[in-house]
Amino acid sequence: MPENAYVSICQKGLEEVLSKEIANGGGDITGSQTSTVFFNADKKSLYRLNMSLRTALSILMPLKEFTANNYDELYFKTRKINWHKLFSPDKNIRIDVKGRSRSLNHSQFAMHRIKDAISDAFKKLANNVRPSVDKENPDIRIVAYLNENKTTIYLDSSGVPLFKRGYRLPGYDAPIKEDLASGIILLSGWDGSKNLLDPFCGSATFLIEAMMIANNIPPNLERNFSFFNWFDFDKEIYENEKALLKEKISPKQIKLQGYEIDKTAYMKTLTLLKKNPLFKDIRVFNEDFRKSREDFNDWFIITNPPYNERMKEEDINGLYKDFGDFLKQKCKDSTAYVLTANLEAAKHFGLRSSKRTILYNGAMEARLIEFKMY
Ligand SMILES: C[S@@+](CC[C@H](N)C(=O)[O-])C[C@H]1O[C@@H](n2cnc3c(N)ncnc32)[C@H](O)[C@@H]1O
Repeated sequence: MPENAYVSICQKGLEEVLSKEIANGGGDITGSQTSTVFFNADKKSLYRLNMSLRTALSILMPLKEFTANNYDELYFKTRKINWHKLFSPDKNIRIDVKGRSRSLNHSQFAMHRIKDAISDAFKKLANNVRPSVDKENPDIRIVAYLNENKTTIYLDSSGVPLFKRGYRLPGYDAPIKEDLASGIILLSGWDGSKNLLDPFCGSATFLIEAMMIANNIPPNLERNFSFFNWFDFDKEIYENEKALLKEKISPKQIKLQGYEIDKTAYMKTLTLLKKNPLFKDIRVFNEDFRKSREDFNDWFIITNPPYNERMKEEDINGLYKDFGDFLKQKCKDSTAYVLTANLEAAKHFGLRSSKRTILYNGAMEARLIEFKMY
């Protein structure tokens, strides 16, 4: 089957781990830059990667790259794309304009010109039937990336961003994003052979993502993808890949445990865990981790403690000191990975770190700090 060029987008800092995931999933890496991994893949791998990548936000197929110095050029060059060969005009579309261009600096207007170009391209060929725009629930997503006068038009194969796994319940404040949580677990090298603790578990994102990694559960097995609406969608290949991924799921007996001090947050997490039978082995306690009577010797600890929002400086320093003491006293022979953006408070852990990696939690620069208690 012929190979196509694709681009996968990720959170800044996760390019390397995403490249590994893509290569393991059958993609042929051709390069990378900030937030972007370039690769070639056949249709089978495209479907498999969409279902199984943990650190990707989307997989895009570049359609055309051209120079556009003004909105008319953008319109005419976009209109030349063979849209009618990609999807039918009765589909709803959404167009996102990203990047930066001094000559096309009004992204809303650029979006309208692209929409007009696509409509007009269809109008000519499809008896006046044109795709309509639906921002909330589009069948087809188009991304235009502007880099000064260079424009690249992509078709998004994924649709709803891949970090939206579908298990999240609304209402919990500031959870770590699913792709970042998975990226941290993959960076840590945890492979499911040791028990895992998150002493600041919030909505249990680390524990849920870890459970899926340990059991080899693809994070996006049961959902719709935009490529379903492409003309070249091959349902048989897709169903076959899905079945193969299902076959590889292998349950592991390990402990996945968390503490959450806040009662409301804990109750929401409990509801979420009870809703999904896959999460039945994840145990969370509504307790201050400092009060735990258990020892976690020879475990893995992966967590993101509060950075400082809503806390006084002496409180956050004290909390970080107590967490460092907890690691020293209760987590002997264990390895910990702690994500924090508060480097001042991190000095209070009182432990020597063995590795520091720069990651981004949204726009916020953070550190993933490794501690070895052995
Ligand atoms: C930054 S959030 C963690 C978010 C989490 N990773 C998620 O995905 O939802 C930190 C959490 O630690 C909890 N927390 C703060 N101090 C705690 C303590 N002493 N023991 C247990 N949990 C604590 C907070 O209530 C908050 O929910």
